[in-house]
Formats: sequence, C-alpha cells, structure tokens
Amino acid sequence: MPATTSPADFVAWFRSVAPYINAFRGKTFVIAFGGEVVADGKFVELTHDFNLLAALGIRLVLVHGARPQIEQHLAKNNLDDTYHLGIRMTDAETMQCVKEAVGRVRVEIEALLSMGLANSPMANADIRVAGGNFITAQPIGVINGMDLQHTGSVRKVDVAALNDRMEFGEVVLLSPLGYSPTGEVFNLTLEDVATATAIALDADKLVFLMDTDGVTGKKGELLKELTVAQAQEALTGKRKLSDDVSLFLPCAIRACEAGVARTHLISRHTYGAVLQELFSDEGIGTMVVESTLNTLREATIDDIGGIIELLRPLEESGILVRRSRELLEREIDRFTVLEHDHRIIGCAALYPFPDEAAAELACLAVDTQCRDRGYGEALLNHMISVAKMQELKKLFVLTTRTAHWFIERGFKESDVAELPAQKKSLYNYQRKSKVFVRKI
Ligand SMILES: CC(C)(COP(=O)(O)OP(=O)(O)OC[C@H]1O[C@@H](n2cnc3c(N)ncnc32)[C@H](O)[C@@H]1OP(=O)(O)O)[C@@H](O)C(=O)NCCC(=O)NCCS
Repeated sequence: MPATTSPADFVAWFRSVAPYINAFRGKTFVIAFGGEVVADGKFVELTHDFNLLAALGIRLVLVHGARPQIEQHLAKNNLDDTYHLGIRMTDAETMQCVKEAVGRVRVEIEALLSMGLANSPMANADIRVAGGNFITAQPIGVINGMDLQHTGSVRKVDVAALNDRMEFGEVVLLSPLGYSPTGEVFNLTLEDVATATAIALDADKLVFLMDTDGVTGKKGELLKELTVAQAQEALTGKRKLSDDVSLFLPCAIRACEAGVARTHLISRHTYGAVLQELFSDEGIGTMVVESTLNTLREATIDDIGGIIELLRPLEESGILVRRSRELLEREIDRFTVLEHDHRIIGCAALYPFPDEAAAELACLAVDTQCRDRGYGEALLNHMISVAKMQELKKLFVLTTRTAHWFIERGFKESDVAELPAQKKSLYNYQRKSKVFVRKI
C-alpha cells in the first residue's frame, strides 16, 4: 500500500472492486495489442495486468501484432514493404521476414509472461501460455489485379481447442498467422485475428490497445460509450478520426453485431490502461456496446448479492432500514434493479396496498459512485409507471434524510395517520421517518 494511501481509502477502494471481480470471474476477454508494445519495452507492465486478470479467473486470449518488427526485418533484408489498398502484400521473401519477426515477438512475450520474480507483481504468478494452430486462414487473393499472395484472412477459429486450453487455466497467446488445410502459412492482421476469435468464442469483452485515447466527439472530447449505431455514425460522419480508431472501430462494430458484449478501445500509453478501463465505471477509453449498457429490470434471486452490496452501507449509516438476506429473498419480486455492465448500481422496491389504492416506494438507492446522473429519478419514474399499471393512485415513502429529493419530485409531506392501516401498525416511532405522498 503506498504511504500516501490511508488504510480507510485502501479498504474502501479494495471493496469497491469486489463487484467487478465477482462479475468477471469465468468470463472470456480477448485483448489485442500491436508489436509496438513489445518494441517500446512496455510489455512488462502489461504482463502484470494480464497476470492479475488471469488470477481473478478471467479466461484470457491475448493477440499480438508484429508490424514494427516486420518492418525492421524487411529493411534489414533490403525488401520493400508493399501495400495495396492499405493491405500488406506478402510475397515469399516477405513471408520469411514475417515468420521471423512474429516468432521473435512471440518468444519475447512468452518469456515476460513466464516471470515470477519475488517482490514483483509477478511473484507466484503461474501463467501457462498456450499456442497452436487455432486459426485457419485463407488467402485474400487478387484485388484489383494485385495478387496479395501470402496475405490472408481468418477462415475459422478452433473454438473447442481454445476452450480446452482455457479450461486448464492457460492463457492463450495468438499470433497474427494462420494456417490453411493445404499446409500454407498466411500473414494476418492482429485486428482480424482478435475480432474473429472474440466472435467465435462469444467473448464478453474484446479490448484493443491503441495509440490514441479512444473515439472523440465534435469538440475533441472523449466519447466513453457508443452504441453500434453511434459508432457507425462516427465512422460515416464528417468527423476526422485517428488512424487507429478508423482501423479498430469497424472491428468493434463487427464484434458487437456478432454478439460480443463489449469492445473497448483504449490507449496503450495510459498507466494500467486495461485495469483502469475494466475496473472502474468511468473507464479511460471508448466502449462500444450493442445497445446502451444500463438496463432497468425486475430483480431475480441472482441479484440478491448485488442488492445487499448496494444497501449495506446505507443500512449501516442508518439511511435505510436493515433488511436481512432472508427478507430480501422473500420479497425479491417487489424489487426493480438498475444494472450497468453486469453490476447492480441501483434498486427500488414497490409494496402495494390495493385496498387503499396506494403503494410504498422503499429501498430506493443508487450506488454512491453513480449518483447525480438521473438514475434515481429514472428508478422513481419506472416505479410510478409500475404502480399505475396496478391502478394505484398514490405513492408514499418513508425517509429520514432524503426529504428534499422527494419534495423536488412532487411529493408532499404527510402524516403517519395517512398511511395504509397495515403500514401504520408497523410504523417505527423511534426511527421518526417522515412520510411523503405523491398522487400518480
Ligand atoms: C436519493 C438517491 C436515490 C438519488 O439518486 P441519484 O441517482 O443521485 O438521483 P438523481 O441523479 O436522479 O438526482 C440527483 C439530484 O438530487 C440531489 N440530491 C441527492 N440527494 C439528495 C438529498 N438527500 N436531498 C436533496 N437533494 C438530493 C442531487 O444533489 C442532485 O441534484 P441536481 O440534479 O440539482 O444536481 C440517492 O441519493 C441514494 O441512493 N440515497 C440514499 C438512499 C435514500 O436515501 N433513499 C431514499 C429513501 S427510500
């Protein structure tokens, strides 16, 4: 723990990542990075983060590139680097350089992933790296009269073999090479390998480490979250995108449309980029999702853990009345949850009193890190429409500290005497909650 971090901050921070740890265990992430990361000597830092992800039970597929190393080999051998419509042409001599460069990069990555130095983040790390002929490739062929020869594209991914490796707790490392049933080797792009693999594995996340921070908006501001439709708009719009965004954003769209839950475009230059992106709500780059990440839905028994995590601090500080796990389990049907990226960040419960055409709104809570974004109001509005569907005419709440929030949303202070009879009999006079009512 750094000297500047207080024990309380440290404990609070550590607890705050628990929901991510729970949500990510057993999930499949495909992370792609260019050969620049290795050339710059930055891969050591990345290995620390990959080690942590693997230790948390995340199924990892790493995809590396080797562009600078290939260019270096070509230059050393006095060979031209020929591009046609933005695609490298790979003749037999170039292919030789590709194989050598890719092989060297791969060995270097495997060596760094094998580190286990005491007193380092890799202490006790036991990463077993798996490689193999997982990618079947096909030639791109002739485009506009130019035969691209050994330049290929992914034809098939051996999902069963990849799953086998990951079941054994191995981290899969894929190189930008593929093999054909005719025994040939093809030069592939890292983005094609990563995207095809993420799609084939139905991965939960695909991450591209790139040179810029992410997709930017009209004023140069970083766009943190894009739906596929918004990403398409960014690609086809007038805005000038950076080269790497132009390269990776179409992959993000392709992956999301094919069922990959989220694709992240993040800067490789940001310290701990992968961890910062994955373990915080705000993230540091651009995340592309099929549709918006927030869902408001009825709670199920599987949400109990998340609801408890959300309510406990509020119960401990006396803001909400304590509810046992058993009570929550019994009353889970009353709850609505607001989920963000598999994490419960808000909830509310509705207790109808049909005889009085009224309902109590209880347990309205939004995670402290996600407040002031209108989620509380969205939950309230949702509960009002649920109550209306049950033909109830008024909503009441009992609160000790949130009076003004409700007043500003159309609630009027009322009296215990006005509560439905059954609720009145249970009113806790010691707690002295105020009663607020709103006609709906
Ligand atoms: C009340 C609560 C659900 C609001 O969640 P939220 O997502 O931040 O709500 P919104 O984003 O819709 O509203 C935020 C606004 O309410 C204001 N607000 C937050 N708490 C408030 C309070 N106790 N009193 C008055 N205003 C408050 C914020 O300052 C913000 O104002 P602004 O829009 O002028 O900036 C959240 O603060 C919470 O979980 N509180 C603890 C649990 C609780 O008290 N529940 C109610 C009893 S059941």
